[in-house]
Amino acid sequence: MTEHSSRPGGAAETPDAGVHVAIIMDGNGRWAQARGRRREWGHRRGAESVRSVVRAAPDLGVGTLTLYAFSSDNWSRPAAEVGLLMRLLERYMRREAAELRDNGVRLRVVGRRDRLDARIVDAIAEAEATTESGDRLDLRIAVDYSSRHALLQAVREAASREGLAADRPDLAAELGRVMHADGPSRDVDLLIRTGGEKRLSDFLLWECAYAEMLFTPVMWPDFSGEHLASALQDFATRDRRFGNVQLAG
Ligand code: IPE
Ligand code: IPE
Ligand code: MG
Repeated sequence: MTEHSSRPGGAAETPDAGVHVAIIMDGNGRWAQARGRRREWGHRRGAESVRSVVRAAPDLGVGTLTLYAFSSDNWSRPAAEVGLLMRLLERYMRREAAELRDNGVRLRVVGRRDRLDARIVDAIAEAEATTESGDRLDLRIAVDYSSRHALLQAVREAASREGLAADRPDLAAELGRVMHADGPSRDVDLLIRTGGEKRLSDFLLWECAYAEMLFTPVMWPDFSGEHLASALQDFATRDRRFGNVQLAG
């Protein structure tokens, strides 16, 4: 990395860490409504898609998988829907941790915890502890996540450190920490959004600086490990230049 690089923690510095895929899991509600069911049904089925994708990821060369499960703006939804999403989240933490551990998956939840119910915070902490030694896949689930909030927190923290502001590489590393507290977050290689919308909705604004984007009309409950495999095939054909020019030969 040159001193001019804007990439404090990218895939290029961690070639053995596998591809970082981030997914905006969108379309649950519309999927259910199109079938004459309540939005909640879509969220339940969406949890199945999570299982399918997580099972498939390690063998597809994915080293880090970041899933957007609940945005900070999702608190504005009806209380019943928020309640169900939180229950599904807790259930996932409690029921899946052992299988994740057995499959070598390390689970971590990113985002704010100060607004989550204590029992959910406990379930998260337990699942993180259970899966701590996983070394085949880093699974990060974003809950009460806002990229702007994470960036602001990182800037505040960096600014409060004496002497840091003047030292650009350190500041960049600090900002690169935006997603979690125990090390620099990796740049996203491939960002997938299901459900047909083409926007980021406050997800990983920093980490997606050079992400390849893939927007698919497939609704999240219909998305599976096979869709992830074809997304990665598409990704493999992309020509990533990172601001440089294509060198001959
Ligand atoms: C994504 O599906 C899940 C969450 C945002 C929690 P949506 O619930 O946004 O489904 P649509 O986009 O309304 O269909
Ligand atoms: C983004 O989806 C958040 C998650 C998938 C968790 P939204 O459905 O909340 O995003 P908007 O409102 O369409 O931008
Ligand atoms: Mg949506």
